[in-house]
Amino acid sequence: MDASSLKHIAFSFTLDQPYLSTFLLALGSISVARVIYQTLTVLLQTFVLPGTNLKRFGAKKGAWAVVTGSTDGIGKEFSFQLAKAGFNVFLVARNKDLLASTAAEIEQKYKVSTATHAIDFSKANVAAYDALGATFTGLDVGVLVNNVGKSHAIPAYFIDTPNDEITDIVTINVNATLRVTYAVLPGMVQRKRGLILNVGSFAGAIPSPMLATYSGTKAFLATFTSALAEEVRKDNITVEHLNTYFVVSKLSKIRKSSALIPQPGPYVRSVLSKIGLACGAGFSGRPDTSTPFWSHALLDYAMTLIGAPSLFISYTHGLHKDIRRRALKKAAREAKAE
Ligand SMILES: NC(=O)c1ccc[n+]([C@@H]2O[C@H](COP(=O)([O-])OP(=O)(O)OC[C@H]3O[C@@H](n4cnc5c(N)ncnc54)[C@H](OP(=O)(O)O)[C@@H]3O)[C@@H](O)[C@H]2O)c1
Repeated sequence: MDASSLKHIAFSFTLDQPYLSTFLLALGSISVARVIYQTLTVLLQTFVLPGTNLKRFGAKKGAWAVVTGSTDGIGKEFSFQLAKAGFNVFLVARNKDLLASTAAEIEQKYKVSTATHAIDFSKANVAAYDALGATFTGLDVGVLVNNVGKSHAIPAYFIDTPNDEITDIVTINVNATLRVTYAVLPGMVQRKRGLILNVGSFAGAIPSPMLATYSGTKAFLATFTSALAEEVRKDNITVEHLNTYFVVSKLSKIRKSSALIPQPGPYVRSVLSKIGLACGAGFSGRPDTSTPFWSHALLDYAMTLIGAPSLFISYTHGLHKDIRRRALKKAAREAKAE
């Protein structure tokens, strides 16, 4: 059979099968309508709709907000903005002096009560967590922000990563979240009210070569959040995982903000104004995850539309190789200067 007869058969098949072309047209229209619906939802949630009012979690009613890693960066900003919203604030971090000065600043500025507890999450044992848990006794904790986190000093292949760095990252990012949640949750269940925010990272959504341990711990947070959120929904408790791209901070080592890299202030404002809305994470297949900051949201949604995670993994690998090369070069320069 030659090519022209094949073409003829295909043509008459199309004509003879009006249902097929109608079906294909319907399928195409549904796909287009779906993308339009999803895009509008993401845009509406990110730019227009307000999130759940913080009063639902006890703002201005004497409730407390517990924030881990609260003396710097994103955690410090959460502490200030939650105080501004009308929560008493319970600050948790390592450095006693910094805790005291941050608490004093908050009390003076927002006229709320504060409490502090010094703990090194990389070394905390059962007794240390029991002591922390005991300080929550009798407090009406309305909000918990599991913010404390540690990343790698510089990108490195897993086999070249120092053993204690791997241990610290898992201990801080995973154990601290589990243990502090475990201490706070019973009270929330009893009061039938609460908000738990777990600060995650794009490194959890996109497996990140040369930050493998950090990336794995942040992926853990997404899954843990979804499971826990479903368990406690009946108790009127919201558990939300925050998919976060870069933010200016000590941890990110980024000092200059840009459209894609906000200061902690605008980042935290976006989180607290969009509670309960998935924004950019809406159609990513990660229930109870939110990507609230506008440019992070658009990036997350674009990545969902494109699919192809291997593309992003390979891009990230290249990026991290370059960051490592530059970091080593800088360290060598500094060593020489000394
Ligand atoms: N910045 C970003 O670009 C970015 C992106 C994605 C996700 N995140 C996540 O956001 C969270 C906050 O990061 P950040 O950038 O704000 O960090 P940061 O500026 O380095 O602040 C970290 C805070 O945690 C405290 N902390 C550190 N190690 C601790 C330990 N072992 N025990 C108790 N407290 C400890 C620090 O205070 P002391 O040192 O005084 O204890 C400080 O208050 C992390 O979970 C991080 O993974 C950040």
